[in-house]
Order: sequence, then structure tokens, then C-alpha cells
Amino acid sequence: MALVNENYLRLHGRYLFSEIARKVNVFKTIHPEAKLIPMGIGDVTKPLAGAVIDAMHKAVNEMSVGSTFRGYGPEQGYRFLVEKIIASDYEPRGVHLEPDEVFVSDGCKSDMGNIGDILAQDNVVAVTDPVYPVYVDTNVMDGRSGILSESGGWSNIVYLPCTAENNFIPELPDKHVDIIYLCFPNNPTGTTLTKTELKIWVDYALKTGALILYDAAYEAFITEKNVPHSIYEIKGAKQCAIEFRSFSKTAGFTGLRCGYTVVPKEVLAGSRSGEKVAVNALWNRRQTTKFNGVSYITQRAAEAVYSPEGQAQCAENIAYYLENASIIRSSLLEMGLEVFGGVNAPYIWFKTPEGLGSWKFFDRMLYETNVIGTPGVGFGPSGEGYLRLTAFGSREDTLEAMARFKNWKF
Ligand SMILES: Cc1ncc(COP(=O)(O)O)c(C=O)c1O
Repeated sequence: MALVNENYLRLHGRYLFSEIARKVNVFKTIHPEAKLIPMGIGDVTKPLAGAVIDAMHKAVNEMSVGSTFRGYGPEQGYRFLVEKIIASDYEPRGVHLEPDEVFVSDGCKSDMGNIGDILAQDNVVAVTDPVYPVYVDTNVMDGRSGILSESGGWSNIVYLPCTAENNFIPELPDKHVDIIYLCFPNNPTGTTLTKTELKIWVDYALKTGALILYDAAYEAFITEKNVPHSIYEIKGAKQCAIEFRSFSKTAGFTGLRCGYTVVPKEVLAGSRSGEKVAVNALWNRRQTTKFNGVSYITQRAAEAVYSPEGQAQCAENIAYYLENASIIRSSLLEMGLEVFGGVNAPYIWFKTPEGLGSWKFFDRMLYETNVIGTPGVGFGPSGEGYLRLTAFGSREDTLEAMARFKNWKF
């Protein structure tokens, strides 16, 4: 009989959002008439920009004619897209990248999960806590986690608490770590680091040889000037960081699927024999073996995000979500809650009142206001006592949810 990868058996219970879905389904069975307002999952609701749709139609037509049909494309992405990415997302910020340092993919989640393929199993991993669950679960799958403790943390993972007490700024680890996951603007807390705060991490990685995996999926939501859009805005980061980007939230591609990962050639990691290995070459080897590229139509769609019309239309959608975030923030503040995020991110993170646990508050909110949030503890032990709301809903739903909260005696 074939044997399974036993690391998968260590994964606890259900993935957070499946557990939320289960609870919501129970609620729906009991209250089929209730009008639920989903503010839990971070999925966009606005349709794709007109420029993106037009580009896809054009690409579909090309695929229908022999002379313009495209079969397999480069695994790393078409040059037309890679060049636009570099020219629009990096050069204006003073970051120079070579085309073979950018790898187009079907989204940031797959790349963040797959990057573990090229990294040794005995690396010590650090994550900020609370954290996007994918970083932790994929390390469990890869055998880097150790065992699950009572508190919900894994024995071999170093947790860097980010709470109101430290203003959501992680402190440098007090023991040696090899891989550090950072995500700014942060999911779930909606908070960010300034350039000065991020520089501390880059300097630390350069000093210790750690590798930073930087998730910038929410970069497009940054409104404040001193917040870096890319880790490469920090000197030295090209030697110690891989950056993950996504069109999902920037341009509403959650259902279309496209993202990219930047692996500078200067990033080196060690082999057991003491050799220094370029991570770029390994990632290229991994991608060309296990991945066959993103569809031509999708890459044309992503290219259109960078056209003047695409930029204006996507910016309009982001402004809409940020306005929702501002409405949620001010309503929660008016209710006397302690509220974070929502300024450079589509996530609002707040302390649950009167010491109610995250799941308890989630349940009460569901049953008493019919609004669905995400319990903070689902993102890690330090998320206990917090709840996340997302600004990705319609304006109407956002206003309706806030009106319900106003009359709610929690
Ligand atoms: C921090 C973070 N990274 C990555 C992703 C997934 O991005 P993609 O849709 O490109 O896979 C999400 C989605 O919610 C996210 O919150």
C-alpha cells in the first residue's frame, strides 16, 4: 500500500474558512430567513475592470485564429507582462530588476506554498502572529512545524506576536531563525510597517543569513507615504528577500488567477556542503518542472491592468474598498471599540469587547447581527480576543452591517 505524507495528518481540524462555513451553514439551517452579510472572507466583489475584460476578449479572438494562436508559453511568464511589471511596479520606486528575476504565476498563495519545495526541511521558520494560515500550514505539510501545542502554536515554528501592545510591529526573534514570513500590509491585522521598521528586518536578515519571504499582496491599498510598497525599496533587500505579489486584490483577479514572485539573483542560500546557491536558479528549475505557466488570456488580462485605463479603473475599485474600510473603522470606533488597520489595507482588526474570546464574539455577531466576521484566533494564538472584518463587500452591505452594529447591545 502506498504511504501518505504523514505531515498532512498533523494538520489540525479544518482550514479556518471551512470551519466558519460550517458554523454559517448551521446558522442558515436554523434561520433560513436571515439576511446574512459576509464580512469574513477576503474576496473581492467588484467585477473586473473594463480594460481587463477587453484585453481578454481580444486574446480569446487571437486564440481562435491559427496565425495568432498560442500553445504552451514560457513557464516564467510572457515577456510582455514581465516587462510591464518591472516598468510599473518597480522602476518608479527605484528598484531595478532583470526580467528573469520575475516569475508569473497563478497567484500568490500557490507560490507562497510552493516556495518550501526548494528550502531544506530543517530550516527554522518564523511567522508573525496572527498570520495568514497558508504560511504555517504549508510548513506543516513540508515537515518543518514540529508538534502542535495546547495554545495552538507549533513547537518548531517561532511566533512573533503582533498585538495592540507592540503596535503590531513584530520584534526580532530571540533565537536563530532561517526563514521569516512577513506580510505588509498585513492580513489579518490591516497594519503596516514603515520603511524604517522594515529596514530592521532587512538588516537582521543580512546579518544572520535568514531569508525573508515577503508577501505584498495588499500593496495596492497603501495610502501613507512612508509605507514601502516593495521590500526592495529597502537597501540590501535584494540579497535576502523574495517578494510575492498578486493581481487578486489589486485588480480583482481572485477568480481569474494571476500573481508573480520576484526572486533576485543575488539571493543566496546554503547547501549542506557549505556551497552558496542562487535561489533564483532553483525556483526556475522548480517552476519549469512542476508548473506550465499561466494562460495567455490571463496574462493579457494582467498586462491590461498596467494600461492607463486599467490603472484608473483598478484604482477606482481600490478607492471604493478603502472607503468601505473607513466606514467600518469609524463605526467601530464610535461604538467604543479598539480598532486597527483599514487605512492601508482592506482589513479592519478590532479587540473583542469585555474579554470575549474570538469565536464567542464571532458566534454572537453571527446570531445577533447576522454579520459574518473572522475570529482572530483562527490566524494564530496572538489573534485571540480580536476579530477581523473585511472591506470587500458592497457599499450597501457595509452600511447595513454598520447600522445593525449601532443598535447592537453586545
Ligand atoms: C496575505 C495573502 N497572501 C496571499 C493571498 C492569496 O493571493 P492569491 O489570490 O494571489 O493566491 C491572500 C488571499 O487572501 C492573502 O491574504
